[in-house]
Amino acid sequence: MTSFESRAAVLFLSAVAKDKSMTDEQLLELARVAAEKAYAPYSNFHVGCAVESIDGEVVTGANMENACYRLGVCAEQSALTAAQHQFGLDKVARIAVVGGTDSTVCTPCGGCRQAILEAAQLSGRDFEILCGSGDGSAVERHSINELIPFGFGPANLDSSGPG
Ligand code: THU
Repeated sequence: MTSFESRAAVLFLSAVAKDKSMTDEQLLELARVAAEKAYAPYSNFHVGCAVESIDGEVVTGANMENACYRLGVCAEQSALTAAQHQFGLDKVARIAVVGGTDSTVCTPCGGCRQAILEAAQLSGRDFEILCGSGDGSAVERHSINELIPFGFGPANLDSSGPG
């Protein structure tokens, strides 16, 4: 087992053992571990994201770039895809994002805010996003409605669906 795999395993096991949600620091650490698996040879900006469910399950993702630059995928969208497969977007309870190498906190880009809003509106909760710096020295906490006020989401389409 590599060192980051064992760090992740310990955190996952502690969450299962407690049968409740992780501490902020644990969720941020999982995002930081995920960032180590980013494929970002073009920007060299590694981002990791950990998505926690209401039952305490956690999935992670990292950014994945491509030689055709515009095809790159952000860490948040990668983790949200895993969340949909693991427990469903409607069960998302909290998200941690960590990126870069210095003390600047990594907040989700505009597209990722929109992707997170989808999960928030499906779940009916205005959940928290923990934004951490790459060097581990700084954390900011924002709700998704704070990050994307007046957003357009599934709630806007409720009245226009079939039937
Ligand atoms: N990136 C993310 O993964 N999430 C964000 O919210 C901001 C940006 C990635 C995209 C790209 O691979 C690299 O960071 C530099 O923009």
